[in-house]
Amino acid sequence: MRIVDLRSDTVTKPSPEMWEALRSLGNSKLGDDVEGEDPTVNDLEEKAAKVVGKEAALLVTSGTQGNLISLLSQTNPGDEIMIEKRSHIYGHEVGSTARLGGLMICTFSSDKGVPNLDNLQDMIRNREDIHQPPTTLISQENTHNYHGGVIINPEDLQKMKNFADINKLKFHMDGARIFNAAIGLNVPVTEFTKHVDSVMFCLSKGLSCPVGSIVAGSKDFISKARRYRKMLGGGMRQAGIIAVFGLIALEPKWIQRLEEDHKNAKLLAECIKTYNLPVKIHTPDTNIVIVELMKKIEISKIITEFGKEGVLAFSISKDKIRFVTHYGLNENDIEFASEKIGKVLTKFI
Ligand SMILES: Cc1ncc(COP(=O)(O)O)c(C=O)c1O
Repeated sequence: MRIVDLRSDTVTKPSPEMWEALRSLGNSKLGDDVEGEDPTVNDLEEKAAKVVGKEAALLVTSGTQGNLISLLSQTNPGDEIMIEKRSHIYGHEVGSTARLGGLMICTFSSDKGVPNLDNLQDMIRNREDIHQPPTTLISQENTHNYHGGVIINPEDLQKMKNFADINKLKFHMDGARIFNAAIGLNVPVTEFTKHVDSVMFCLSKGLSCPVGSIVAGSKDFISKARRYRKMLGGGMRQAGIIAVFGLIALEPKWIQRLEEDHKNAKLLAECIKTYNLPVKIHTPDTNIVIVELMKKIEISKIITEFGKEGVLAFSISKDKIRFVTHYGLNENDIEFASEKIGKVLTKFI
């Protein structure tokens, strides 16, 4: 049975060039990374830091681990941190900031990921008041997954950076898909990353590596991050075997390939629109298409029916279905999927 998997860009498999690079990796290119002796990991970290315009970078096991390490490295237990309500760190990282970081979270609402800074200002704690926890960090997800892969543009980040500076906050970016943002606006990724103290990005999503994420920032931040990675069990020894994929993924050609995913997302949204159904199809900024139901329907039934037709998707709330385009899908897959999506939605709505 033909399956088009639109659940996430995490389902991607490595490219032929990545496999080739792995095949030509010999023992001389591997070492104990906990001791800083894996040349392939060192090359990847150096390359990653350069690409995002930071002093240093660190390979971590996952985006979740990278976010947690970034927050632990820049806060103290008992601090309060500011996080957007629908962000991955708040809703989908198992409460690790509270459980492991001892951090209080103050959530804020936003207009498609972009906060109202006047409202945020009111949430900042008074550091002089001994009763209050200090607010010490703000985090911004970019692209914003649950708002439909929207791009938070560099101008808004600049304003957030000013806000962070005025209030003496560290500024972290959950840039799991930051290269999608850069390609989506056709600007260098550094236009986004230059505004933040720390950035996490995933190799294992649109960049289609099998494992791994990167955190980047100042040398001082990365040396703290290295200790927290060890604490969290992320010291991976001969990790060059993972890093070798990342070296290919960070080539400009491979980053530029994300354009295909964005084109496919637009095509998917357009094709679903041709069914003229009473649903809201959000115009995608990047590689995520959200279809919002306007009627009360048990969404899990729709997802199950999609599956029977060979289309895999996730619901992200009781009225929103998320489709993610990624490496390995072509136009024909998108046309096949949209036909099935149209058929199933017509049946339910
Ligand atoms: C915005 C965002 N941040 C962080 C993560 C966590 O990444 P990982 O699955 O590698 O832990 C994800 C995963 O989907 C994500 O979408």
